[in-house]
Amino acid sequence: MTEFPQFHFSQKLTQWYEIHKRDLPWRNTTNPYYIWLSEIILQQTRVVQGMPYYYKFVEAFPTVFDLAAADEAEVLRLWQGLGYYSRARNLHKTAKMVVDEYNGVFPETYQELLKLKGVGSYTAAAIASFSYNEPVAVLDGNVYRVLSRVFGIETDIASNEAKKVYSEYAQALLPTNNANTHNQAIMEFGAMQCTPGTPSDCMFCIFANECVAHAQGRQAVLPIKSKKVKVKERFFHYFLIEQNDKFVMRKRVGRDVWEGMYDFYLLESSESLQLDDLLEQDPWLKELVSNALILNESGNFTHVLTHQKIQTKFWHIRVNADFSLNLPENHAFYNLSEVDDLPKSTLVNNYLTQESKILT
Ligand code: ADE
Repeated sequence: MTEFPQFHFSQKLTQWYEIHKRDLPWRNTTNPYYIWLSEIILQQTRVVQGMPYYYKFVEAFPTVFDLAAADEAEVLRLWQGLGYYSRARNLHKTAKMVVDEYNGVFPETYQELLKLKGVGSYTAAAIASFSYNEPVAVLDGNVYRVLSRVFGIETDIASNEAKKVYSEYAQALLPTNNANTHNQAIMEFGAMQCTPGTPSDCMFCIFANECVAHAQGRQAVLPIKSKKVKVKERFFHYFLIEQNDKFVMRKRVGRDVWEGMYDFYLLESSESLQLDDLLEQDPWLKELVSNALILNESGNFTHVLTHQKIQTKFWHIRVNADFSLNLPENHAFYNLSEVDDLPKSTLVNNYLTQESKILT
């Protein structure tokens, strides 16, 4: 176990909590159904926004049997306004699972709770400790912030090893006989006192003498969290059009990936589409396909760039010899050796060599 000063951390924290805690409805119960309900509602939702929904759900479905027996539409209607509707659907599925597989009794240990749909390590630890006082430490954004600042932990909370590093601290600080209150307290302390940015009153904090961030004036820096690059998903639907042993290629223009390189006739979308959908969108292509033979529909090719993930499918289409083809702008016919010579992306090259086998 990591060696670090514990300076009655839990004792001070829980004393602070008894004085400053908010009176929240799910704190006055140990019923795992209510605790679970509150934690699912509070995922990605602030307490003030989630509270009315908690009351609505408890009133409409006082037990897990009531929730399991409800229509999905009824659950979704009650959830209306909270967003992330898959949470409501999963909530309903999990209620049914608890009724069908556990006779309506919530599992009583962290490990068993993890088996429930939609219950990850945070939620399992919350239910296990709040309902059954099992000594498993919760780790949420509040806990990361408190631990990072008080103990000067520099590990990037967006990194792969963060969970392991912070869990070790969180678990070592957790008293085995008071997990419930300690876990509530550390989250409350993060939400109310050790707030994001630069808290205004660190000099009055119970950890003012021990806090590494306070001593170094680094509250705004800790915890370190690197920005995850936002990856845009794109779906490319390429058509390799062949007629009389020649192939249609297009020079890519404009500020986009592979500018100046050659590819094929392309339809792009933000979701994966079937050929029928594509043809409905594109009358030119529809007419062409009705005068052609589809030689091959490729598997999926995934190309990952720093800021985008491009999922691609190719259709190889041989157009009847006598069909009069009017090519769109920037498109032209090339023979095989020209196709070979033109500059192409790795994606297009891989397709031509692996799947279409036109080039070797
Ligand atoms: N946010 C998520 N779970 C919470 C809880 N149990 N109490 C207060 N805020 C929370």
